[in-house]
Amino acid sequence: MATATGSATTTELLEAMAEAARSAPSVHNTQPWRFQMAMAGARAGDGPGLLIFEDPHRSLPVLDPDGRLRAISCGAAAANAEVACRAQGFSTAVDWLPDPNRPELVAVVRPDRAHNEQTHVMSLANAVPSRRTHRRIHRHAMLEPGELEALRREVSTAGAAMTVLDDTARRHLAVLLVRAMVAQSGSPELVDEVDSWVRGYGPGEQERQDGVPVASLGTGPFPIDSLAHAAMDADRLSAEDVEQALSWSTTVAISTVGDRRRDWLNAGRALERMWLHLTVAGFVLAFADQATQLEETRRQLPEALDVLGHVQMVVRLGRPLVEVPRTPRRPLSEMLR
Ligand SMILES: Cc1cc2nc3c(=O)[nH]c(=O)nc-3n(C[C@H](O)[C@H](O)[C@H](O)COP(=O)(O)O)c2cc1C
Repeated sequence: MATATGSATTTELLEAMAEAARSAPSVHNTQPWRFQMAMAGARAGDGPGLLIFEDPHRSLPVLDPDGRLRAISCGAAAANAEVACRAQGFSTAVDWLPDPNRPELVAVVRPDRAHNEQTHVMSLANAVPSRRTHRRIHRHAMLEPGELEALRREVSTAGAAMTVLDDTARRHLAVLLVRAMVAQSGSPELVDEVDSWVRGYGPGEQERQDGVPVASLGTGPFPIDSLAHAAMDADRLSAEDVEQALSWSTTVAISTVGDRRRDWLNAGRALERMWLHLTVAGFVLAFADQATQLEETRRQLPEALDVLGHVQMVVRLGRPLVEVPRTPRRPLSEMLR
């Protein structure tokens, strides 16, 4: 490893990377990862690195039986580790799924060469703790073509693609979203699973360091920005209302050519790279993702949205009207091996 421009020791550098990875978004704030700091790699010549493992014990068997959303979450954690490393003055090298004998090891993020591209990277690193899922009401605001182009670059560098939905695609999405949300809210197993990750005001619940606090849930009349928890009233949903709510902000799909674990990790990395750029530029992001979470509606998405490949996520990008609180994270000591 070359010498950094800063004076952080290797341990401090790896700790900063793990700290950033810990702040990543994850499905239902499950934080489905563990980290290990390695002072040297397994192969001769490999330098130090942060190992990121999926934690299969923090899974969602009903919503996410194949672990797609868990892998996306871990891809986002890796993206944060990369940003933290670059902010300390190093470019990064990432080995994805490096060991077939240890499938839960999803990535090793290593500091590579010293570099000086500091200013923009510092602002991205500063955005790591301030990035939020924004389920509260958005102002009417669309992203400009130049802003979208910058996001598209971030997404494609991560091996995924971004498609901005036009009016027709938004109309089709609204129909699939309603179908998916009615199915989700009609599934007692799924609603129970969501509720087990929503932190209400019962004894001890607010002290939990994972899951989604009720204060972070949406308040809009049509809960497309939120989760299918018990209090949701899917019968009130109409595709027209959902389509209108979507039209207040820019809606984009993130897709990949393949649909395997490596593609899911790429999608998560793409999501987080895009999200940090949005945060620096003062935009917010919410998920409109239910149609990708149900097998039947997910199959229909590529044609409905005119997207090639496999749709991994659908998100709304816009300007916030109100602030939203920060969600908790478990302490780093609990995640480090
Ligand atoms: C793969 C993935 C899927 C998600 N799906 C949804 C979703 O369908 N609805 C939602 O409201 N939030 C969704 N989220 C956002 C998480 O709930 C959020 O990241 C987590 O609660 C942590 O909060 P934060 O993003 O504000 O740090 C998703 C996040 C990820 C990474």
